[in-house]
Amino acid sequence: MIHKNILLSIATISILYTGCTENETKETQTPQPKEVVAQQEPTETSTVDKVANSVITHVESTAKKTEELAKDLQKSTAPVVKNIANKVKEVQKNVTEASDPIIKKVQQVVQNTDANKLYKKCASCHGLNGEKKALNKSAIIKNWNAQQIEEALLGYKNGSYGGAMKGVMKAQVTKLTDNEINALSNHIADFK
Ligand code: HEC
Repeated sequence: MIHKNILLSIATISILYTGCTENETKETQTPQPKEVVAQQEPTETSTVDKVANSVITHVESTAKKTEELAKDLQKSTAPVVKNIANKVKEVQKNVTEASDPIIKKVQQVVQNTDANKLYKKCASCHGLNGEKKALNKSAIIKNWNAQQIEEALLGYKNGSYGGAMKGVMKAQVTKLTDNEINALSNHIADFK
C-alpha cells in the first residue's frame, strides 16, 4: 500500500511538473504575437511605399503627357506664328513702300511751296523763271543745275564767291538757312 502511495505521489508530482513546464513553455511563447506585429510592420511600410510609388508613377506620366502636349502645341503653332510674323513684315513693307513716295511728294510740295515763296524776292532781279541778268550784271541762272546754284548761294553767304556785286547777293542770302538754300537751288534748277 505504501508503495502504491509513493507511486501515486510521484505520478502526481510529475503531472504537476509537466503542467508547470507546459505553462512555462506557454509563458515563454507569449511574445509570439509581438513577433507577428513586428513582422507586420514591414508589410504596412510596403503598402505606403506602394501607394507612394503609384502616386509618383502617376505624377511622372502626367508630367510626361503634359510635356508631350506642350511640344505638340508648339509644333502646331510654330508655323502659324511664323506665318503671322511674315505677314506682318509684308504689310510693314507694303506700307513703307506705299507711304515713302507719298511722304517724299509731301516733303517736295512743302519744300517747293517754301522755295516758291522764298524765290519771290529773287524774281525782281533774276526774273520769274531766272531768265534775266540780275541788275544787268549776273549770269542767267535759269539753266544752272541745283549743285551749281547751291554752291554760289553758300559762297555768297560765307563770302567765298562772287564778282563785283557780290555784296548785293550777300544781303539776299545771309538770313537763309542751309536748308532753305538747298530748297531754293532745287526750285531754280527746275525752271523751264
Ligand atoms: C537786288 C537784285 C538781286 C536780288 C533781289 C537777288 N539777286 Fe541774285 N544776283 C544779283 C546780282 C547783281 C548778282 C551778281 C553778283 C556778283 O557780282 O557776283 C547775282 C548773282 C546771283 C547768282 C549767281 C549768278 C552768277 O552770276 O554767278 C545766283 C545763283 C543768284 N544771284 C541767286 C539769287 C537768289 C536765289 C536770290 C533770292 C534769294 C537772288 N539772287 C536775289 C542780284 C540780285
